[in-house]
Amino acid sequence: MKRNIARTVFVMALMTAAVPPPMFAQAAAKTAPQTAAQRSPVAPTKEQVQAAVNEAYQKFKNNTDGKNADYIPELAKVDSNLYGIVIVTADGQSVTAGDVDKAFSIQSISKVFSLALAMEELGPAKVFEKIGSEPTGRPFNSVEAVVDMPTHTGNPLVNAGAISTVSLIPAPSADAKYNKILDFYSRAAGAKLSLINDVYKSEAATNAGNKALSALLVKYERLYADPLESVDVYTKQCSVGVTAKQLAVMGATLANFGANPLTGEQVIKRENVPEILATMTMAGLYDGSGGWAWHVGLPAKSGVGGGIVAVVPGKGAIAVFAPPLDKAGNSVKAQLAIAYVADKLGINLYSPRSVGVK
Ligand code: DON
Repeated sequence: MKRNIARTVFVMALMTAAVPPPMFAQAAAKTAPQTAAQRSPVAPTKEQVQAAVNEAYQKFKNNTDGKNADYIPELAKVDSNLYGIVIVTADGQSVTAGDVDKAFSIQSISKVFSLALAMEELGPAKVFEKIGSEPTGRPFNSVEAVVDMPTHTGNPLVNAGAISTVSLIPAPSADAKYNKILDFYSRAAGAKLSLINDVYKSEAATNAGNKALSALLVKYERLYADPLESVDVYTKQCSVGVTAKQLAVMGATLANFGANPLTGEQVIKRENVPEILATMTMAGLYDGSGGWAWHVGLPAKSGVGGGIVAVVPGKGAIAVFAPPLDKAGNSVKAQLAIAYVADKLGINLYSPRSVGVK
């Protein structure tokens, strides 16, 4: 009850808040005229945003740190030099650099959108009760976290919580559930997405760890459908292909309070967006999430395919694709590029300027 009141107040505050300043200064001129209060004295121009993206691209292009995921054999075969950066604003403008049209597997970034779908279908309270939202402080595929944590599921962005989230989504069959998920992702991307079958086959043949997690969740009564079927749908959702451009639109849908800025469709209920972004801040980069919040200050989500998407609420999203990963499973170059652009454009939500101390 208390939580519901707090949530209602928060959502009302969000909905009645002044329209945030645009990501680009010139976007203001293109859209409806703004009041002086709405106009940001510090919003960068599109040229400045393009320059920041170009600089980030050049600066980290030759960085060879990290390595492709290889526990899913197909991912080890992806060209490690691929590198693309895209920003899409909440009003649908974009800037790009590098390999932005190459499809790669969405992997764990899918977890954000399956969480959103579960919230659409069941409401946030049910999802919070059935999965929870606590950081594990452990690797994304940790068995120990399932055993140790009071909720066992942890949160919807680690493998255990994500498999459980999939099990919660209502559907008459496993195929119908996957198609529902794929359709939801496609609406968020504003494009018809599809499975990368070689990645799916490769992960399906090597996912004993996820099957073990699902069996443990059954033991703790935190899995809500057939375990092997849930792991299979989860494996398929992780194998959906996206380009950096499409991923940035998915992020911009979250930035635009759940409405896809290209199609105008309200894909995610506006009132569900705050909790989704909070979950991303808390667990989007797994055991790297705390350091990311400290240094970069943006809700984000990574995937072992090499993608990361970061959301600037009300303004836009930045998606980066670069396959080599650090030890936590987060793309090295994507982290560097997003951190650089966030700093250059002053979009860290907790920066001295954002919190009003500069
Ligand atoms: O279940 C897995 O291990 C993968 N399909 C997804 C893991 C992942 O992307 C973690 N990300 N950084």
